[in-house]
Amino acid sequence: PKRIPHQFVDVLVIGGGIAGLRAATEVDPSLSLLIVTKDRMRESNSSYAQGGIAGVLDPEDNFDSHTSDTLAAGAELCDPAVVESVVREAPRLINELITWGAEFDENPEGELLLGREGGHSHRRIAHALGDATGQEIMRAMIHHARETLGAQIWQDTFTIDLLTSEGVCRGALVWNPNHGKTFVWAKQTILATGGAGQLYRETTNPRVATGDGHAIAYRAGAVLADMEFMQFHPTVLYIAGSSRSLITEAIRGEGAHLVDCNDHRFMPDYDERAELAPRDVVSRSIVAQMEKTKHSCVYLDMRLLGAEFIRGRFPGIAKACLEFGIDVTEELIPVRPGAHYMLGGVKVDEQGATSLPGLWAAGEATSSGLHGANRLASNSLLEGLVYGARAGAGASAAALTEPDRYQAAALENPPLEESHAWLDLADVRNSLKSLMWRAAGVWRSEESLAEAAENIDRWKQYALARQLGDPEGWELQNMLMVAELLIAAARRRTESRGVHLRSDFPESDNAAWRRRIEIVRSDAGP
Ligand code: SIN
Repeated sequence: PKRIPHQFVDVLVIGGGIAGLRAATEVDPSLSLLIVTKDRMRESNSSYAQGGIAGVLDPEDNFDSHTSDTLAAGAELCDPAVVESVVREAPRLINELITWGAEFDENPEGELLLGREGGHSHRRIAHALGDATGQEIMRAMIHHARETLGAQIWQDTFTIDLLTSEGVCRGALVWNPNHGKTFVWAKQTILATGGAGQLYRETTNPRVATGDGHAIAYRAGAVLADMEFMQFHPTVLYIAGSSRSLITEAIRGEGAHLVDCNDHRFMPDYDERAELAPRDVVSRSIVAQMEKTKHSCVYLDMRLLGAEFIRGRFPGIAKACLEFGIDVTEELIPVRPGAHYMLGGVKVDEQGATSLPGLWAAGEATSSGLHGANRLASNSLLEGLVYGARAGAGASAAALTEPDRYQAAALENPPLEESHAWLDLADVRNSLKSLMWRAAGVWRSEESLAEAAENIDRWKQYALARQLGDPEGWELQNMLMVAELLIAAARRRTESRGVHLRSDFPESDNAAWRRRIEIVRSDAGP
């Protein structure tokens, strides 16, 4: 086989979204730093964030209120100390983004305009370009990173696996279409690979969100937690042929209503907070109303906000809908829930350290204890910033104390030979996405989950046993693995809590399940 070249760096960051770039910024300039991203740097869940970033930025708001809203949404599974410390860091880190050039929306007096979203008892969401906050934050962060960090950046570079030797993470095996595979040996590695919405047929996530970080960390032996909790966003544009665009919750925050196909405003029937209930409640209510009315979607009515306000505050949504012939100032928007945010991931401590020495992690790929069983809107960019900074600082400090060792280690997980047997990857991928939507979606039961597990087990037998030769194959392998972990955790949690709804166990069971489920690879394991 062709020899694989070796590269040596002090710190390797895998992922170029908000968490990865914030981590990179903390790395001491005396250290060599490499950032690898699977696609172009701009292509991450962070860039697609619409609503904004939550933080106590208004003198009338306070930390206790942001903390208690986060804890309430998390359905008793948040770690209160984590929530409090993240909430307290929010204003400083959001202001730092402003010093890096991020332009948040302001009033003519130069004060931040703050939006409101479900589950928040105060206006505390900083937003930019109206409804394209992620795009603006990532523009500023990428610019800042390119101007100030002496980092190498390898885009279009797929991370096949983490390298482990003697129970320590030592970097990663990566692949790039121009250079093929490279062993990147790193003193410290930071995983910031984002989410896994692509496991589902209906999702707000871009094509890159295939849970790669979850899968490579699991294979390397790191502990994962909360894998049963996939958050479904209540309002995803539902038009045949359109991409399933997110329709930001901030629209409901400004007063828009949800109506069914009979023009009935149904949310007050389900919850006194109506359209501003936390999103697990809204998603569940929408599904119930779709069933009740035997209709494939519900509708968002934003006409009452007025045409001028809509065009100024939500220009991106207005444009996206107009491309499909919907003038949102005069017409209803067809919506229904879709997979949005993976709450489960690599378990990290308060510093962003994983259970695997040498591996740090931040953002959507992790489970930090901030979100519990249901994430409060706009706390995710915030988590990426806070934990990105912590993991970056931790990895940097650890790398500074380690001597240079320019040699390859004996690997515990040597790469397999490639197989060239033909497999219809797209067919398996589409089948998996449909199966997950049907069997492990907003509602699950032992029956549906067992059926999903059986199918995945069958696909796995021929898709996982071989080393495939390109990103499409590696992604599929990762997706099958993450789906299997999600289902295994969902079957264990025999109750309903937060975003995890079991039709066969519709109540929460605090006595048995007010605890998190952790999963770690055992060689017999899934
Ligand atoms: C939204 O804009 O509705 C999404 C906000 C979030 O997911 O936190």
